[in-house]
Amino acid sequence: MADWLAALDRRAELRARAGLTRTLRPRAADDPVVDLAGNDYLGLATHPEVTAAAATALSAYGLGATGSRLVRGSTEAHHALEDDLADWLGVDRALVFSSGYLANLAAVRGLTQPRTLLVSDAHNHASLIDGCRISGAETLVTPHADVAAVAAALAAAPGRPAVVVTESVFSVDGDLAPLAELHEVARRHGALLLVDDAHALGVTGPAGAGGVAAAGLAGAPDVVVTATLSKALGGAGGVVAGPAEFVRHLVETGRTFIFDTAPPPAVVAGVRAAVRLARDGDALRAELADRVATAVRRLGGAGLPVSAPDGAVISVTAPGPEAATAWAAACRERGVAVGCFRPPSTPDSRSRLRLTVSAGVDRADFERALDVIVECAREVS
Ligand SMILES: Cc1ncc(COP(=O)(O)O)c(C=O)c1O
Repeated sequence: MADWLAALDRRAELRARAGLTRTLRPRAADDPVVDLAGNDYLGLATHPEVTAAAATALSAYGLGATGSRLVRGSTEAHHALEDDLADWLGVDRALVFSSGYLANLAAVRGLTQPRTLLVSDAHNHASLIDGCRISGAETLVTPHADVAAVAAALAAAPGRPAVVVTESVFSVDGDLAPLAELHEVARRHGALLLVDDAHALGVTGPAGAGGVAAAGLAGAPDVVVTATLSKALGGAGGVVAGPAEFVRHLVETGRTFIFDTAPPPAVVAGVRAAVRLARDGDALRAELADRVATAVRRLGGAGLPVSAPDGAVISVTAPGPEAATAWAAACRERGVAVGCFRPPSTPDSRSRLRLTVSAGVDRADFERALDVIVECAREVS
């Protein structure tokens, strides 16, 4: 074996010994497994109105966008979705990217200028972390949801441009950032607030408009929102939403916007239908909230260390990475898909089962899946 491949093998062996092997499992379209691992929170990925809108655009435009947004990729479907997203989120303008990851890279970089200080929550998603890195700006990581630490970081950098970077509903434990307090602190110090609403869009806030809207910050001139279109909206793509001047800045300078083929029109049209359904989706959100409460009650009642979720992400701490892997595998064998979070994907040393609740899963299957999770915890402990 070539040296470099042997070196990779040795590294894979070390990961395996630490219980950190990752494997891909192809999913069949008719997979019978009960899904508590995906992010299709409202069940819109397969909604007939969503797939019909995508199918119509597929026939009209073909498979791909055929170019980047500034060349041939900006279809009427993209602009219609951006108008709808801006209206829903209560902002001047919204700009669609081909993923939430790329939207975050562009947003963080676009908000920095020479001497900018980025103040980033310790639980932030990898895409925000990478955005901070790519921006080249000095980044201070503050303890999770610690408003006093953010205030201290800003106070220690008087006169410097600064951006507070946070998620709203965190992808790790499903808790909600103290957005109103963070905004107040940021404003006091003349800093901007960047919020990744990935796990809150469609799930929380008035008409599902997300965590920023729920905190009363929609349209604030010093707030920029990002989100993925791949979770509650069931599609793919990302969005940056905020003041028109900032969106213009990204159109003209955002590298992950400019040098990337636009998301496929069919996906964009499907997401637009999903936005309509999500805005009208109070009944789905009520069902989702009821399921989350049921899960927390049942798992907590069985003695499992379960988080206190503010959205549809629930984390259950596992004794270690091997135990988390075994627990998730046992659930899968019994027909239940759960997420398994281990370092280095976790911001601390804790391994977790990560459950994502969806209103689209059959209710009886969901309830049975909770029993399976509890039974498998006993088997592997
Ligand atoms: C908080 C958060 N931000 C951004 C992303 C990236 O979004 P996308 O999958 O659309 O790249 C994810 C996960 O997918 C996420 O959980």
